[in-house]
Amino acid sequence: MNPPRIESSRRVLLGISGGIAAYKACELTRLLVKAGHQVQVVMTDAATRFVGPVTLQALSGREVALDNWHALRASGMDHIDLVREADAFVVAPASADLMARAACGMGDDLLSTLLLARDAVPTLLAPAMNRAMWAHPAVQRNAEQLRRDGVRLAGPGSGEQACGEVGDGRMLEPAQLLWEIEALWRAPVLRGRRVLITAGPTFEPWDAVRGLSNRSSGKMGWALARAAWEAGAEVVLVAGPTALQAPHGARTVAVETAVQMQQAVFAELDAQRCDVFIAAAAVADWRPRPAAQGKLKKQPGAAPPSPELELNPDILAEVAARPDAPYCVGFAAEAQDLLANAQAKRERKGVPLLVGNLGPQTFGRDDNACVLIDASGARELPRMDKLELARELVHEIASRLAGR
Ligand code: C5P
Repeated sequence: MNPPRIESSRRVLLGISGGIAAYKACELTRLLVKAGHQVQVVMTDAATRFVGPVTLQALSGREVALDNWHALRASGMDHIDLVREADAFVVAPASADLMARAACGMGDDLLSTLLLARDAVPTLLAPAMNRAMWAHPAVQRNAEQLRRDGVRLAGPGSGEQACGEVGDGRMLEPAQLLWEIEALWRAPVLRGRRVLITAGPTFEPWDAVRGLSNRSSGKMGWALARAAWEAGAEVVLVAGPTALQAPHGARTVAVETAVQMQQAVFAELDAQRCDVFIAAAAVADWRPRPAAQGKLKKQPGAAPPSPELELNPDILAEVAARPDAPYCVGFAAEAQDLLANAQAKRERKGVPLLVGNLGPQTFGRDDNACVLIDASGARELPRMDKLELARELVHEIASRLAGR
């Protein structure tokens, strides 16, 4: 069984204003609770026309705050206490009206008053409205004012809208908002940095339907993309075939073979300066020489065909050898003698930092244990959730970059 997520429990004050996307706030509440956080919901009067407070009460396990004049707290000071108790203040959806009231500092209901009283509590608004409303100069002015006041705006995304129109103004999906919220608590140690990551397996075709691959799930590379994005980096993920959805915040380049991965990585490095390269992909060492076109046929009585293999490029070693090489981090999935094999691999590949782990104990799992190896020695990291591990690695990388 995998251990629980480790992002420690935080208190989230979730404001819901009036808009059709209010129904997605139910799922957001559920995801926050599932991730171990405590959620206190505040709804505007308009929001209660879209979803019932009882639904949010059941999902959050707490009575919903609705009104300045019927306070939940004995102090009668909900408009101050609720936000001072919170580790993050999130408004999702944030309607055009709510944004306007917040931008000019009005306090004409409980939610807007809490936004005035928020003090230093990290605050995130997820705008949601019709595309023409979002494009209106007044809304754009208010959005800019809120940013200047220290509010983080998440989205809006683009796509089909409840009104049937298509464009900018969709609220981000609840899973994306969970990432945005948890990012509020991370230090921006990679702000201004560009991070290139390879992830997942590669698939090396033999004939039209068969090929060579491995059991890498891509989870470690995905966790690294999220951790680097949370730390403020611009992230590009070059990903082999996996079952995972493209991660929020990163630009994903999908590839299939090692040669395609090599070309995609070099194209990124040639296009723009890159500060860090993390090779988390389980690149197939060999590829079959392509068989005849189509599918190899089984011939009755004939010996089975065997693929002829050729060596794939070592992407990590090639990147590390470039004159403009970014700070390179490699992975080593070993079956035995982890430390000795990983140390030798670090030197052979010419990379400053290598993460060693036992292949069979990490592939496909949500957690991992590893050893960090650099020129000065080795440090073990205990088994932990891959996201927590990725966050540790990002900190290690950031401190080494700062010292370069
Ligand atoms: O040689 P080995 O496959 O054990 O090396 C593992 C490390 O090298 C990983 O960081 C992996 O992403 C990278 N690698 C690569 N290109 C290859 C093989 C491995 O970038 N062809």
